[in-house]
Amino acid sequence: MAKMWAGRTSGITDSIADDFNSSIRFDCKMYKQDITGSMAHAAMLGAKNIISKKEAETLIDGLQGILDDLESGALEFDFSSEDIHMFVEQVLTNRIGDVGKKLHTARSRNDQVALDLRMYLREETDELTALVKDVIEAILLQAEANKSVIMPGYTHLQRAQPILFSHHLMAYAMMLLRDLDRLADCRERMNVSPIGCCALAGTTYNTDRRFEAWKLGFHDVARNSIDGVSDRDFCLELMSCLSILMMHLSRFSEEIILWASWEFKFIELSDAYTTGSSIMPQKKNPDMAELVRGKTGRVYGDLMALLTTLKGLPLAYNKDMQEDKEAVFDAVDTVKMCLKVFAPMLATMTAKPENMKKAAQGGFINATDLADYLVKKGLPFRSAYKISGQIVAQCIREGLVLETLPLSEYQKYSELFEEDLYKDIDLLTCVEKRISEGGTSVASVEAQIAYVKENLA
Ligand code: ARG
Repeated sequence: MAKMWAGRTSGITDSIADDFNSSIRFDCKMYKQDITGSMAHAAMLGAKNIISKKEAETLIDGLQGILDDLESGALEFDFSSEDIHMFVEQVLTNRIGDVGKKLHTARSRNDQVALDLRMYLREETDELTALVKDVIEAILLQAEANKSVIMPGYTHLQRAQPILFSHHLMAYAMMLLRDLDRLADCRERMNVSPIGCCALAGTTYNTDRRFEAWKLGFHDVARNSIDGVSDRDFCLELMSCLSILMMHLSRFSEEIILWASWEFKFIELSDAYTTGSSIMPQKKNPDMAELVRGKTGRVYGDLMALLTTLKGLPLAYNKDMQEDKEAVFDAVDTVKMCLKVFAPMLATMTAKPENMKKAAQGGFINATDLADYLVKKGLPFRSAYKISGQIVAQCIREGLVLETLPLSEYQKYSELFEEDLYKDIDLLTCVEKRISEGGTSVASVEAQIAYVKENLA
């Protein structure tokens, strides 16, 4: 069958070219947005007397019927169509006759596809936002349940200073809070209507772009029609936000994988979010966390793919831009899946406070506090730092830790050492003394929890 756009050419194309050109396999995802967008367009055409009110009504009823039938399954996609826009228009014309052919007045597929994609991604952004919130809720749950559990804090993956497990968890809540901010910001710029830009130059009809934009929930219209049909920043911005979000989930996953190992055993994952091995009977593998870490690369890849596609394109629309959808849909679908599994995996994991404490006790994690002890007694920090380092070296030589080195030995380094030093280097003291804003004391972490809850509400 000849194409709807037959005229300049016969419209009879090679079937391999048809398959290559067609996007309905993936843009059928946007059927609802395409139809709602068309209904608003028909309403505008009617309101502006570009078509009659009666014709507008016929178009809207016809479109509603298509939407209902697609939703009930009474109508199926025809995957030999060129894209979702052509499919809907073709079905409409088949159903209501020649009036259907009036729908595409003062419109082009160039502004239509940009409209559909913005509307589709707007909804997806809202869903993503809700899912990120679920992960934050899971973090809050664990942080509150394990508020005063002590663990080693690391730098260079070497034990550094004692911290609260809840403090460590809340670091991720802060990252995700920023992700929410980024999504909201991205949604704001996404929510600008391109419809009415037409092919690129605008239109000679007396249209009302704002009528359509308001009807479809946009807060503004694209102010330059060439930009309106060429702009895919909103896809890139969303994928950038998602890449950063995935980077956060990936770092968190990496830690969960480490913590779940026999070497750490800081946590145990629920059976529901682990897998076994087909050969090693003892295994309990953190596959969900590993997959989240793995899929991060895939989301970065989607962003890179579209950045690269767009970089050499002249204005305005080019068919290359059809490649936007698979990349951004894949990124969105992947991130949604990751978030959906991450929240319950986190909520159901069990902390192992005794193992965390044990790990915090070795490794001279309180050496900074030993130096601070001397500073409080009047020694400059650099000197105190040096003495503490020498004491650590002696302990290592003699197989001792700071808690078990006798006071007489301490006093060989400085007369400032007194019996009260043991209290100062006790892990609980080390943690509780860190009352600076954002620090690791219980009071500081409580303030962080309150801050996140407030921002979530
Ligand atoms: N399927 C196309 C896309 O996804 C729709 C726009 C087609 N426009 C055109 N002038 N051929 O980009």
